[in-house]
Amino acid sequence: MIIVTAALKGGVGKTTTSVYLAALASSNRRTSTLIDADPQGSAADWIAESDDEQLNRIEIAEAPTERLLNKALDKVPPEGIGIVDMPPSHERLLNKALERARIVIIPTRVGGVETPRVKAVMELVPDDVPAGLVICSARTYTRSYQEAMQLYAQEGIPVWGTIPERVSITAGPTGPLAADGLESYKKVWRKILAAARS
Ligand SMILES: Nc1ncnc2c1ncn2[C@@H]1O[C@H](COP(=O)(O)OP(=O)(O)O)[C@@H](O)[C@H]1O
Ligand SMILES: [Mg+2]
Repeated sequence: MIIVTAALKGGVGKTTTSVYLAALASSNRRTSTLIDADPQGSAADWIAESDDEQLNRIEIAEAPTERLLNKALDKVPPEGIGIVDMPPSHERLLNKALERARIVIIPTRVGGVETPRVKAVMELVPDDVPAGLVICSARTYTRSYQEAMQLYAQEGIPVWGTIPERVSITAGPTGPLAADGLESYKKVWRKILAAARS
């Protein structure tokens, strides 16, 4: 199963989402592959630098070009899980990844400018591939969060989860995975599994 974490913008939570989901995908003695398609290699660095044991069963593949991406995707066994962390604003590479995706995760933040960006990514996703939003670093008690959720509901855009803003999540590789971050991403993970079964 190939899961692509897609956004056409940096700083929305793609890498954080990819790492947490890869950790969940590799629980229960399974391994998962985290395919880092961003030349910055922040997902690969995270896995390399972190002491968190929950990241031990993640295999990392650095694949910042079309050729390397295809190669890394080919290596994911049929029963395995590959999670692709995409760079921002590389639409060509994103399209290549989306062609091979079973599931697409679209991390976003709350804010008026984010909605058209989310829609632009949704347009790139092939019709038969399930896609859902993850609202990252959310302040759930704010009015702008409530309004954003209402808008997505009205427009029929699926939101698969909300990840609260947490200092422990910002810590990235310098700290362990945040317990409540994992709890929130677990809900997203269940949506992914449900979408993959349908
Ligand atoms: N739930 C969260 N709470 C707090 N900070 C977060 C959260 N999710 C992401 N961040 C922070 O936001 C910044 C951008 O996230 P990142 O995952 O690197 O985004 P991208 O890969 O899209 O550029 C990072 O500093 C990251 O630690
Ligand atoms: Mg990133």
